[in-house]
Amino acid sequence: MPVFGDYSKYYDLLYQDKDYEGEARYVDTLIKKYLPAAHSMLEFGCGTGRYTREFARLGYSVHGVDFSENMLAEAKKKSGNIEGLRFSCGDMRSIRLREEFDVVVALFHVLSYQTTDQDVLDALKTVREHVAPGGIAVLDFWYGPAVLTQQPQVRVKEVSDGNLNVTRIAQPILYPNENIVRIDYDAFIESKTDMRINKISESHYMRYFFIPELSLIWKSVPLEMLSIEAWMTDDKPGTNSWAVVAVLR
Ligand SMILES: C[S@@+](CC[C@H](N)C(=O)[O-])C[C@H]1O[C@@H](n2cnc3c(N)ncnc32)[C@H](O)[C@@H]1O
Repeated sequence: MPVFGDYSKYYDLLYQDKDYEGEARYVDTLIKKYLPAAHSMLEFGCGTGRYTREFARLGYSVHGVDFSENMLAEAKKKSGNIEGLRFSCGDMRSIRLREEFDVVVALFHVLSYQTTDQDVLDALKTVREHVAPGGIAVLDFWYGPAVLTQQPQVRVKEVSDGNLNVTRIAQPILYPNENIVRIDYDAFIESKTDMRINKISESHYMRYFFIPELSLIWKSVPLEMLSIEAWMTDDKPGTNSWAVVAVLR
């Protein structure tokens, strides 16, 4: 089953409480610290466009790219004709838009979806290809010391809207020699009108990263790391910071 297939229809409902507005403002602050005049933005793994629309509201002209047609369909449906927004289907490991941007972002762990060394290198080379001279990239990812300390747990999430109840069970399996966690998602979609239940299953593979390996990776692309911190803080990454964000030039 491909990732972000039928699951994409319920993605925004599952993340209805995620503070995309506050997170986009936080990323905007990170960007402004290094590039106050930044205007054009390329967003890899834009998904259903939740950040994309927030960045457009903050004044960026944003080109969102995702390799899931289903996620992009949701993004286009929800974005209407917001000025300064474009979407393309493509794989961040290989796409070449022949255009450079002030900022390239990939948010909510898109980098962690690149699981092999080659995937990670290819994705970061694509990032570099699309950053204008003097431009920056902002990427977040799962942080190894936190993943290994806290250990991935089984989680159950229940959400609903006027039509549906969705129960999602996430069962992780840790592969410590590969730096990968496989998460088996089973989502049960119950219609409130006829009580029928539809089940959707997907397995997502997430790579977690450590600073020394990232330093080698940045060097080989090459990209210069300007900062690294625990997501939504200005704290040094630690065993409590599952999500970490790096700013690169
Ligand atoms: C967890 S979702 C995040 C979506 C969006 N950034 C958000 O925060 O709602 C990860 C997204 O990355 C996309 N993705 C993963 N690997 C990709 C790749 N190599 N190229 C393009 N998109 C990718 C998936 O299709 C999915 O939409």
